Amino acid sequence: MRISDPEIVAKLAEMTVELQHGAALADLTSLGIGGTTDLLRIRKHESLPDLLNLLDANEVQHKFLGGGSNLLVGDGELPWVVLQLVRPEPDVVLEGNFAHVDAAADLGRMITFCAKNDFGGMEGLIGVPGTVGGALRMNAGAYGMQIGNYVREVKLYRAAGRKIETLRGHQISFEYRHTSFAPDDMMLSVILELPSKPFKLILEGIRICNEKRRSSQPLGQKSAGCIFKNPPGASAGRMIDELGLKGLAVGDACVSDRHANFFVNVGHASAKDMLRLIANVRERVQKNYGVELENEVVVWNA
Ligand code: EPU
Repeated sequence: MRISDPEIVAKLAEMTVELQHGAALADLTSLGIGGTTDLLRIRKHESLPDLLNLLDANEVQHKFLGGGSNLLVGDGELPWVVLQLVRPEPDVVLEGNFAHVDAAADLGRMITFCAKNDFGGMEGLIGVPGTVGGALRMNAGAYGMQIGNYVREVKLYRAAGRKIETLRGHQISFEYRHTSFAPDDMMLSVILELPSKPFKLILEGIRICNEKRRSSQPLGQKSAGCIFKNPPGASAGRMIDELGLKGLAVGDACVSDRHANFFVNVGHASAKDMLRLIANVRERVQKNYGVELENEVVVWNA
C-alpha cells in the first residue's frame, strides 16, 4: 500500500514520522521473505495516537513490525503499511536492579549490556534475534527461562483505547509463547528487574547457551526460529524429524537438516512456498501423531 496524498505526507512529517516508500519486507525479516509496502518509522512514542487516528481517518490499514525475526510476510504488494519504532540512543538505562529498555532495543545487545553491568537472568535468550518488544509480545523463552519472569512494567500503545498506557507486571499474563497483550497492542518500553550476578558467571551461562544453540539450530541460515509451538509434553522438532522430513522442500523453502522445527529459506523462497511447506508438514504430523501443530511463527498473509 502506498501513501501518496500530499496532505497525509505533510502530516506525517509534522509528527516526525519518516515515510519510506516501497520498503521490501524481505529485507526486514530474518526469513528474507515478504512483499513491498510503505514503511512508517516512528521517532516519538507520543505521536502514536495522532498517527493511528490519521491512518484510520484515511482508511490506511497498518501492522506493527518489531525486529522481523519471528515473522512470515506474504508476497507482492501488501495491502497495509508497516509501522516500526526508531531505536533511541541510549535504549537501555539501568537504575539499581531495574533496566528501563526501549521496545526497539536489540534483545541480544540489551542482555550483553546488562551482563557487563553485573545483571543476569536473561542468559537463555542470548542468540535469539529480534527486538525486546518482539520478545515481550511473544514471551520469548529458551533453556528454562522466559522474559515475562523479569517484567515489572510495560508501556504500550493500546489500539482499543487509542492511547498509551502503562501496565504493571502482575496485570499481564505470560504463558508459553503467549501473552495477554491484544494483537494490535504495540510495545513501547519495558522495565525489567534483573538479579545481580557477577559478569564472569553470566558470561559462563551465555557461553553454554551459545554452544547448545550452535550445536542444534541452523544459526547461519535465513529462518524465523521454530515454526511450530511445542504441543504439551512433546517436541514438534522431534516429531518432524522422526517422520524423516528434514530436507523436505517446496521451492526454496526447506525443513532444516539441523533442527526439524526450523524451516529455512535457502534461496529465493516465496511466502507461498513456505506456507505450503508448513501446511504439508502440519498435515503429516496430524496424520501420524494425531496432533494439530500450532504456528509459533506469526503470519502476515496479504
Ligand atoms: N530433536 C530432534 N530432532 C530435531 C530437533 C529436536 O530429535 O530435529 C529433539 C532434541 O534432540 C531434543 C528435543 O527434540 O531431545 C527438543 O529439542 P530442542 O532442545 O532443540 O528444543 P525444542 O523443543 O525443539 C525449544 C524452543 C526453542 C528454544 C529451545 C531451547 C519451541 C517451539 N522451541 O525447542 O525456541 O530455543 O527449546 O530452549 O518452544 C523459538 O522459539 O523459535 C525457538 C527456537
